[in-house]
Amino acid sequence: MNADIMLDVEGLAAGYGRVPVIQDISLKLRRGEAIAILGANGAGKSTMLRAISALLSRAAGTVRLAGDDVTGLSAERLVAAGLSHVAEGRRLFRKLSVEQNLELGLYALNPPAEMIAERREEAYELFPMLRQKAQQPAGSLSGGQQQMLCIAQALTRHPKVIMLDEPSLGLAPILVEEVFRTLEKVRRAGQAILLVEQVVERTLAFVDFAYVLQNGRIVSKGTPAELASADVVRRAYLGEAVAVVDHA
Ligand SMILES: Nc1ncnc2c1ncn2[C@@H]1O[C@H](COP(=O)(O)OP(=O)(O)OP(=O)(O)O)[C@@H](O)[C@H]1O
Ligand SMILES: [Mg+2]
Repeated sequence: MNADIMLDVEGLAAGYGRVPVIQDISLKLRRGEAIAILGANGAGKSTMLRAISALLSRAAGTVRLAGDDVTGLSAERLVAAGLSHVAEGRRLFRKLSVEQNLELGLYALNPPAEMIAERREEAYELFPMLRQKAQQPAGSLSGGQQQMLCIAQALTRHPKVIMLDEPSLGLAPILVEEVFRTLEKVRRAGQAILLVEQVVERTLAFVDFAYVLQNGRIVSKGTPAELASADVVRRAYLGEAVAVVDHA
């Protein structure tokens, strides 16, 4: 067993009711690495993240976190075990302050007061903007800043793996760039990142490895250079049939 594999998903299948949405999903994320899941609207990206984080029950598959089999754990226990899932759509309490929202990230861990203060300070060191705006309502932040707060909130738990579902969704290009600058900082801190995105070129410039999801299946995978040359990404977005490329 390789303890450097922070997330190891094998043969995952899930859906809603009896309708299968994702099938035969296998992926690996190593320590310090960033990987992407690319795919068009409705490809099953969010469903895949929900199935990994046990927010959705799985029809098949195993999930290992830093070498431990966590397949049977509930969503809550998975969070405590070190898997953080930043869901689509910047979910914050808009009327609560930036600081209160940040501290809510630790809620699931039932933290002692010193730990709250320490983790809050870490977040402010990494993202000084959050310190400046600490007492302002979260709803007063720009979309890019709200996304930074969501990410900082997840990081307070010191996750083994952070999964982000389209953090750039709905943001103007300049704010998309702000989100990627945030992600670069997270990555430099050594955090293993699984990023779901639709801004293909920017995402490929950020990650070490990417998987392309189409109709609930991984139809291609590779390094950004391999994927760019194979042109499969563009075709997956256009909905054309793509043969499975195996880089194993
Ligand atoms: N709660 C749900 N109940 C039933 N079907 C759903 C539900 N959520 C998503 N689906 C269906 O599952 C499929 C995959 O949806 P999913 O949201 O995972 O795609 P996605 O790749 O995240 O898309 P997007 O880029 O739009 O966020 C779609 O056909 C969608 O209609
Ligand atoms: Mg989605």
